[in-house]
Amino acid sequence: MIYFDNAATTMLKPPEVAQAVARAIGSFGGVGRGVHDASLSAGVAVYRCRQQVARLFNAPDAKRVAFGLNVTEALNAVVSGLLHAGDHAITTAASHNSVLRPLFRKVDEEGVELDILPVAPDASIDYDAFAALFRPNTRLVVVTHASNLTGDVYDVASMARIAHEHGALICIDAAQTAGVVPIDMQRDGIDIVAFTGHKSLYGPQGTGGLCLADGIDLPWFKVGGSGTHSYDREHPAFYPERLEAGTLNAHGIAGLSAGLAHIEELGVEEIARQTAALADRFEAGVRDVPGVRIVGGHGGVGRTGIVALNIGDIDSAQVADALGYDYGICVRAGAHCAPLMHEAMGTAQQGAVRFSFSHFNTADEVDAGIAAIREIAGDA
Ligand code: ALA
Repeated sequence: MIYFDNAATTMLKPPEVAQAVARAIGSFGGVGRGVHDASLSAGVAVYRCRQQVARLFNAPDAKRVAFGLNVTEALNAVVSGLLHAGDHAITTAASHNSVLRPLFRKVDEEGVELDILPVAPDASIDYDAFAALFRPNTRLVVVTHASNLTGDVYDVASMARIAHEHGALICIDAAQTAGVVPIDMQRDGIDIVAFTGHKSLYGPQGTGGLCLADGIDLPWFKVGGSGTHSYDREHPAFYPERLEAGTLNAHGIAGLSAGLAHIEELGVEEIARQTAALADRFEAGVRDVPGVRIVGGHGGVGRTGIVALNIGDIDSAQVADALGYDYGICVRAGAHCAPLMHEAMGTAQQGAVRFSFSHFNTADEVDAGIAAIREIAGDA
């Protein structure tokens, strides 16, 4: 099997991740639920992971890293906590449904006002047009850092500057960028990073969370057992407990910590360089195949390891099925939960065949992918 579906979830992970999960399952108690060794070792492991996340995003305070299920849950916490009737929010058409649907629910249920910045056919966005969307009541900008369809990276530092000039906060959806594109909350003025653990952080599914800048507060999102202040009626107000309730997935977080250690060892820039080399090799190999159309035009300020394409007018699912059944190549077709981006790219009907590479892929695998596309397109 050749796995090119890393934008959906990284199946290829450092072996230390599974080892860390197995060790944790056999030795961890509940975090913050006791002073015995099993509980304390879980607590130490989770705190270590908070520190790794804070280092990765240059966040000011590891205690402001809150763990949860995934980026979708984190984005729901942000949107539901910060936006209310009378507020205005801005996003872009590159956003995933994990951004769009929480926003649409606010629009439909509370009358929150929303503007969606268009994306041009080359996948670029117009930062002047973005600046022109602000209103006196704009409270929140919530944007994807990189499209999960085309891999285009957006200039969130400029967007943060513009948002702050207008008194708004910015939250970035780092699902596609954490671990493969540098993120610097303090340098770039990012107020909130929502991240997922199971993609390019190489953690297990069911890990992810939020990282808050100093001075940014979110209201309670879920409340319940916190392991402390049990006689208080209210859930603790301090971080990270404020945004966490119930027993943490410390087993998963131990795996995430091992994934983050791998990133620290290799470095985000090196991971990005290796991943981009594979994506470039693939794109160069298929670009001129008759009938192949690459989706988007690299209009972002950078790229992740994604190349999305179509072959003639063949439905993208049919091409993905052929890749899977005939060549053992795993890709993702269809809409990728990014409806507005597909509309912007003109692929709403056909969908797109998305190849998403990781630095664990090899040049030989990429060449096998190129050969498969050539054959399916009838160019072999
Ligand atoms: N959002 C993930 C993807 O792009 C699941 O495939």
